[in-house]
Amino acid sequence: MSSRITKAVIPAAGLGTRFLPATKAMPKEMLPVVDKPAIQYVVEEAVAAGLDDVLMIIGRNKNALANHFDRATELEHTLEVKGDGAKLSKVQESSDLADVHFVRQGDPKGLGHAVLRAKKHVGDQSFAVLLGDDLIDARDPLLTRMLDEHDKRGATIVALLEVDPASIHLYGAAAVEATDDPDVVRITGLVEKPAADVAPSNFAVIGRYVLRPEVFGVLEHTAPGKGGEIQLTDALMEMADDVEGTGGVYGVVFRGRRYDTGDKLDYIKAVIQLAADREDLGADLKPWLTEYVAGFDRG
Ligand code: G1P
Repeated sequence: MSSRITKAVIPAAGLGTRFLPATKAMPKEMLPVVDKPAIQYVVEEAVAAGLDDVLMIIGRNKNALANHFDRATELEHTLEVKGDGAKLSKVQESSDLADVHFVRQGDPKGLGHAVLRAKKHVGDQSFAVLLGDDLIDARDPLLTRMLDEHDKRGATIVALLEVDPASIHLYGAAAVEATDDPDVVRITGLVEKPAADVAPSNFAVIGRYVLRPEVFGVLEHTAPGKGGEIQLTDALMEMADDVEGTGGVYGVVFRGRRYDTGDKLDYIKAVIQLAADREDLGADLKPWLTEYVAGFDRG
C-alpha cells in the first residue's frame, strides 16, 4: 500500500561532541560513512519510502548540510567541462533527491522540542521522524513497513529493536503487549533511558517514528524529563494512553540490519560493514580484513 504521508522530519541539531575534534567545524551528520555523509543515507531512506518533502531541524554550524543538499554549480560546471559524467552524477545525487527544508531549533531543549519545531511545516497530517544516528539498511525497508502499519491502524508507530538488556539504558524502552501480528506490538508504557533493573523490557525504540499530528499538542505541554530535556518518549507515553482517540501507539519490531553511527566504535563498525557489502570495495576489503584479523592471534 502506498501511504499518503509525504513529510519526513530529521532532527540534526545535536553538537556531535562524541566526535570532537572532527565535529568542531563540521556537523556530525556530514561524517562520511564510506563515501557518503551519514545524513544522505537517511534522506535516501525517507525518499525510498515515498517521503520526498524533508524538513531538517538544525542548530548553528550546520551550513554544510544546506550546501550538501543544494546545487554546487561551479563544481558541476567544472566536471561537465571535463566530461566526467560519473563524478557529476555523484555531485548531483544529493540535490536531486528530495525537497529539503531547514528550520533552526533555537534553544537545544531536547528531541521533543526539536520535533515540535516542525509543527508549522507539517501542519495537520501524519509524518515520519528519522534520527540520523541510526542507519537502516536499504535492503530492509523498515519505514515502508511502519507507514503501512500507520495507514492500517491510524495510529502512531515507533520502531523497536530487541537489544541486550545491558544496553537498554541508551534508549527509550517500551512495555508492550502482543497483537495478532507477530511483528507488531501495542505499546503500554515507555521510559526514556531507564537503568537495566527498572526497564520495562529490552525492546528499545530506535530512531524511526510515524507520528500523528496530535503529537504537537502533546509536546506543547510535555514537561522536561530525563536530562532536563523535553523528551519525545514522554509525549509518546501520553499518546499510548489513546489521548483524544488518537489510536494509541504501536511498535513495529525490526529484525533487519541497523547501523549505529552515534558513537565512535559503532561508527567504525558501520563503515566496515557497509564497505564490506559494497560491490566496488568488498572484494578487496574482505580478504584484507581476514588477514588483518588473523594477525591479532599471531600477536
Ligand atoms: C533518542 C531518543 C531515545 C531513542 C534513541 C534512538 O535518544 O530519545 O528514546 O531510543 O534516540 O536512537 P538519543 O540517542 O538521541 O539520546
